[in-house]
Amino acid sequence: MGNDFMGIRWPLNQSPLQLTSLSYPEQQDVNVKSLSRVKPYDLENQKYFDRWARDYDNGRISEWFQYTQQLAIGEFDLKRDAKVLDVGCGTGHAVLRLASLLSEGKAFGIDISTGMVAKASANVPDALRQRIEFVQASSDCIPYTENQFDHVLCTNSFHHYPRSIDSLREIRRVLKPGGQIVILENAPDLSWYTRAWDWFLKLTEKGHIRYYTSAELGELLREAGFARARLCHLRNEFLCHGKLYASIQVWTGYAPDPK
Ligand SMILES: C[S@@+](CC[C@H](N)C(=O)[O-])C[C@H]1O[C@@H](n2cnc3c(N)ncnc32)[C@H](O)[C@@H]1O
Repeated sequence: MGNDFMGIRWPLNQSPLQLTSLSYPEQQDVNVKSLSRVKPYDLENQKYFDRWARDYDNGRISEWFQYTQQLAIGEFDLKRDAKVLDVGCGTGHAVLRLASLLSEGKAFGIDISTGMVAKASANVPDALRQRIEFVQASSDCIPYTENQFDHVLCTNSFHHYPRSIDSLREIRRVLKPGGQIVILENAPDLSWYTRAWDWFLKLTEKGHIRYYTSAELGELLREAGFARARLCHLRNEFLCHGKLYASIQVWTGYAPDPK
């Protein structure tokens, strides 16, 4: 999704030389924990997203992402003291929004990219600082103990995960029994354009693994052990928040509750 033609975001793959010279002073911020949970095989991905983090919040694609985050957050029935985790949080807009809805709860964000979590932390207003935490970590190695979260959000990120089923199992592990996942993704079953774009990104974008059809994503959720998996939205969007066209799917599911 990095080189986003319909979102007018192009071009972008940078040379590895440029990537290694980046530094992120904001990383010292108290809200960022660096737990070194990123595995060696994720390093290339991390570098790619570190590069993208520099101007991630600029341009129309950011507006689109924030719109999709709101759509996904709308599927949560949030209690004011809930603990919510955003996996692949990018620069943290959804985490900020969640924290502002949780007067007594806390919002957490993890992302594989140091640059993304550094930006995310820099975006936190003082008023929310106590109720937000960002950690650099991979979706398949989430640095929290089991049964921690009431909700987990994952927007526009799942198609970057090389071990998608492991990531879903990790999310299920950190959810409390009965806790809810909401996942928003592109929907290649809705258009030839999304299928062609998926094919193109596989060839050109380092961090792109693949888009999943709505049937495939539902199946993955069930395989990872989620109960009551349900497709909340499956639709095309035209001329919407900076996008000429996009197809989206939103799924929810629940960690099994033995009660
Ligand atoms: C297109 S951005 C979406 C960010 C945000 N969720 C949103 O909706 O705007 C994809 C994000 O996923 C992150 N990411 C990619 N692979 C990841 C992984 N294996 N674990 C955690 N985050 C990952 C990237 O660093 C990037 O910030």
